[in-house]
Amino acid sequence: MIKVENLSKRYSGHTALDSVSFEVGRGEIVGFLGPNGAGKTTTLRILTNYLPPSSGRAEIDGLDVFKDSLAVRQRIGYMPENVPLYNDMRIKEYLRFRGALKGMKGRDLRAAVGDAMERCALHEVRRKMIGTLSKGFRQRVGLADALINKPPLLILDEPTNGLDPNQIREVRSLIKELGEDHTILISTHILPEVEMTCGRVIIINQGKIQAIGEPRNLAGQIRSAGTVRVELKGDPKVIEAKLSGLPAVRKVSLEQSREDWHLFVLKVEANKDVRERVDQLARKEQWPLRELSRKGVSLEDVFAELTLHHHD
Ligand SMILES: Nc1ncnc2c1ncn2[C@@H]1O[C@H](COP(=O)(O)OP(=O)(O)O)[C@@H](O)[C@H]1O
Ligand SMILES: [Mg+2]
Repeated sequence: MIKVENLSKRYSGHTALDSVSFEVGRGEIVGFLGPNGAGKTTTLRILTNYLPPSSGRAEIDGLDVFKDSLAVRQRIGYMPENVPLYNDMRIKEYLRFRGALKGMKGRDLRAAVGDAMERCALHEVRRKMIGTLSKGFRQRVGLADALINKPPLLILDEPTNGLDPNQIREVRSLIKELGEDHTILISTHILPEVEMTCGRVIIINQGKIQAIGEPRNLAGQIRSAGTVRVELKGDPKVIEAKLSGLPAVRKVSLEQSREDWHLFVLKVEANKDVRERVDQLARKEQWPLRELSRKGVSLEDVFAELTLHHHD
């Protein structure tokens, strides 16, 4: 449904996107995850034809985004980052206006507005002025707008941003429901968002794709993803130096010292198990050892690692 190839975008010298490639299949709900400034909005604006790329290509439903822009726009429901709404319009009025802009009229338009309000649970407030709505309802109006002309693809830019936990839960379950008959690409900088809603995740940082996969399989794709905990007795400086010298160990930190015991946490290259080597080293050095364990890597570790990368 979406095919992006080597997309790059430079803003006056600053590279916001650096040769980004990915695909989204029909019917998928895919999370586009990355910290602020990663390039998410830039990518989505290019896909929705609001921004030209510096280079690269993008296809929606087999159509070139830049050559077939009109046909492409009809296939996408886009909910931008800050939903621009008209505060002095009533919800129903606003949705009719938006539907008309998208080329609908008459009975079709009325039915579409009714449907969209139904799906987004807006019927009860349909006569309210948009300016008086809570942030959660405003987001729902944004969603209703995005799906009014029944586009097969929804592109949602941080749809739960700024919502309280209850509103987040509501919008999330709405997105899941919409996923039953739409392909959805949803951007977020919040990890639990994608773990709960998305079948697949694309992680972007500093304009580059870092990993693509199912939430639970992503960890293995990341360099230095693994963690080993080891608690030893001995001179902590010596221990730290020798542990750091082991192959596949990228980083050693002293987590805590209690009595003569020192707890170290090792950052280890993905899919490498260094426990046997640590055990051999401890024996050779005659350091008493009372804990040696490997921690499964969660998506949270992966994301923390990515977003903290520049502090490394
Ligand atoms: N119109 C613009 N002009 C210059 N730089 C921009 C513009 N829009 C975004 N950027 C920069 O491009 C990078 C990516 O921004 P953005 O796509 O908004 O990231 P995200 O949505 O992931 O937070 C950031 O460094 C941002 O400052
Ligand atoms: Mg953004």
